[in-house]
Amino acid sequence: MYSEKVMDHFTNPRNVGEMPEANGIGVEGNPVCGDVMKIYIKVNEDKIVDAKFQTFGCGAAIAVSSMVTEMVKGMTLDEASKITKASLAEALDGLPPQKMHCSNLGADALHKAIADYKNKQQK
Ligand code: FES
Repeated sequence: MYSEKVMDHFTNPRNVGEMPEANGIGVEGNPVCGDVMKIYIKVNEDKIVDAKFQTFGCGAAIAVSSMVTEMVKGMTLDEASKITKASLAEALDGLPPQKMHCSNLGADALHKAIADYKNKQQK
């Protein structure tokens, strides 16, 4: 069913919690299952130096949040923008087909956080 990586990130999620010093925040919800994911990023000179998440959702959504926040640390905004639901699922050694939408949530919340950061820079 679930890969070891999914189980690991679900039972021992990394980067959980709020980040008051975040300069980009993205929230994405899935109206079908009702799950909501919030991703915080701290960007310094075009690089993501820290990331955290708060997710009210299923186990796969929690594993995806944990993985995406781990992956983006140290990436440039351009590199992080290229993360997709497929690359997230792949990083977790796959997700069951009916759980692919959970990885979509992770990619979308991240992209929104990046857009939020860029938006704030223009003000
Ligand atoms: Fe909705 Fe996983 S069941 S995010």
